[in-house]
Amino acid sequence: MQTRQMGNTKNEVSLLGFGCMRLPTLPDGAIDEETALAMVRYAIDSGVNYLDTAYTYHGGKSEEFVGKVIQNGYGEKVHIATKMPVWLLESPRDCERLFNEQLKRLGVERVDYYLLHALGRDSWHKAVQCEALEFLENAHSKGLIGNVGFSFHDDLAVFRDIVDAYPWDVCQIQFNYMDECYQAGLAGLKYAASKGLGVIIMEPLRGGRLVNNLPPELEELFADAPIQRTPAEWAFRWVANHPEVSLILSGMSRLEEVEENVRTMVRATPNSLTKKELDLIRKAKEIYAQRVKVLCTNCKYCLPCPQDVAIPRIFELYNEAHIYNSFDGGRWQYGQLLKRGQDAGRCVACGQCETLCPQNIAIIESLEVAHGAFRPEA
Ligand SMILES: NC(=O)c1ccc[n+]([C@@H]2O[C@H](COP(=O)([O-])OP(=O)(O)OC[C@H]3O[C@@H](n4cnc5c(N)ncnc54)[C@H](OP(=O)(O)O)[C@@H]3O)[C@@H](O)[C@H]2O)c1
Repeated sequence: MQTRQMGNTKNEVSLLGFGCMRLPTLPDGAIDEETALAMVRYAIDSGVNYLDTAYTYHGGKSEEFVGKVIQNGYGEKVHIATKMPVWLLESPRDCERLFNEQLKRLGVERVDYYLLHALGRDSWHKAVQCEALEFLENAHSKGLIGNVGFSFHDDLAVFRDIVDAYPWDVCQIQFNYMDECYQAGLAGLKYAASKGLGVIIMEPLRGGRLVNNLPPELEELFADAPIQRTPAEWAFRWVANHPEVSLILSGMSRLEEVEENVRTMVRATPNSLTKKELDLIRKAKEIYAQRVKVLCTNCKYCLPCPQDVAIPRIFELYNEAHIYNSFDGGRWQYGQLLKRGQDAGRCVACGQCETLCPQNIAIIESLEVAHGAFRPEA
């Protein structure tokens, strides 16, 4: 297994980290512990030395499961990372209470990495208000936390602000060949690495979208490539090609995936892709881009909508459904907009958005089409 330096920490970590958010499950939804234990221990025996979990994964059972994995000497072979559910904080007291609960679930007295989970503009303010940074400082000085960090889902400007606000050891960002300019993106990766943070990558396969239900043109592109690689390997290789990446988390739910990803991470060294290989990935991106239906750039000039319709978000969901050939995830997300009264069905065709849209999108008509595709009875 290839190892890389985790930023300015003293840790050498395996390039592949095990994301314990998508473990195999039984028909009742519980973790299939026998299968999952065999998979995670196979990974550790193959050199994986970083396990990522969080308070909420598998309804809170992922941390307990990781506590079982690290028994019988496996704890000495891995770094354990878990995350504080910032959205559950209501007062400074909650930081310690949640952390102690997590230690208990994991059956440990300290964790190697502790991250504020899924920070964005609002949750960052909440974390500051609830004195999460003071908590991290204190727990770190007592040796209860080895390295501190945050995981992130918002735009680049917010990312830079958070990076600059605290002496973090690590950050965790969404990064894959389709998200080079999304959220923190490539610019955020380089920025954090330049400041000495270890950068942990999540969603390297875009949560599975870069491997499942591929458009036929993309299947053909990969099939005709001079080097035969699976779509997963192409996607991992692109991420690993960036020397600023310290570690790539993969959420694996089958042993064959663990075996394949372990093999991939041995050869996925920095700057190892040739120009021809990078061109092939660029073509894959173009194939996806051609499937975009509404040319919304998310500039948000159309907002606020007088009816509170979440216009750019609806177009993002609609485009993603076409790009990745599946409406399932988008339908769930659209359901959240319906619950909040922000769905396209609220549009009264006032047309204010259309006068403001710099892309001249036929917003009213496009919203109607998206609503038709996503509403529950569709
Ligand atoms: N902090 C945060 O806010 C946050 C957010 C998201 C994720 N994470 C962490 O980051 C980890 C990685 O993210 P992710 O799980 O979204 O990663 P991902 O690798 O982008 O997607 C995981 C999916 O890829 C598929 N997969 C993995 N290896 C494969 C292979 N070799 N061939 C075909 N399919 C393969 C799996 O499909 P199957 O289901 O078919 O097995 C799985 O559902 C998570 O597990 C979690 O620990 C953190």
